[in-house]
Amino acid sequence: MKPFVATATAIALMLGAPALAATDDAETAAIEPSGDAAAGETVFGRQCATCHVVKDDEGELLAGRNGRQGPNLYNITGHHAAVVEDFKYGKSMAEVADTDTIWTEENFVAYVKDPTDWLRETLDDKKARSKMAWKVRDDKDAADVFAYLHSLSPGDAE
Ligand code: HEC
Repeated sequence: MKPFVATATAIALMLGAPALAATDDAETAAIEPSGDAAAGETVFGRQCATCHVVKDDEGELLAGRNGRQGPNLYNITGHHAAVVEDFKYGKSMAEVADTDTIWTEENFVAYVKDPTDWLRETLDDKKARSKMAWKVRDDKDAADVFAYLHSLSPGDAE
């Protein structure tokens, strides 16, 4: 991204530009994970819980303990990326909020396998960097944890 565009984006963010909310629960319900949610629960506990929780809107802890380095991963499947309230994203991830990126399984798997690479591709910016210092090695683990997070989403209950 050129500096000018980056600055314009930053200004738009500061002015509280309307969130690009291509997000509703119908979209979450339309997601059909290929992975195994039960296996994903184990993956979450081993690989994600140090930095992430899954906490619903009432503040009930659905997964994890007290991981705070990363955003709450509640109800992200099928929803817009990088829009968790009160989380201070890195600069590149904050720019993703301005795109129309949704956490489909494909995006999610690519992201957790290599967040910096995914940001570079998504933003078309070779200098983009992620604040998430973790890479999931295995495709199946990534798909399983997506299925697990989806199973904790309210859109999945109907
Ligand atoms: C070492 C800490 C750490 C670990 C371990 C970690 N993450 Fe993250 N994660 C982060 C941080 C920090 C961010 C914010 C990244 C940024 O702002 O660039 C993040 C962001 C994310 C996002 C973006 C969410 C959004 O708001 O749109 C997803 C999805 C995600 N992580 C999934 C996972 C999954 C799944 C695992 C386990 C397989 C995992 N993370 C493991 C620290 C971590």
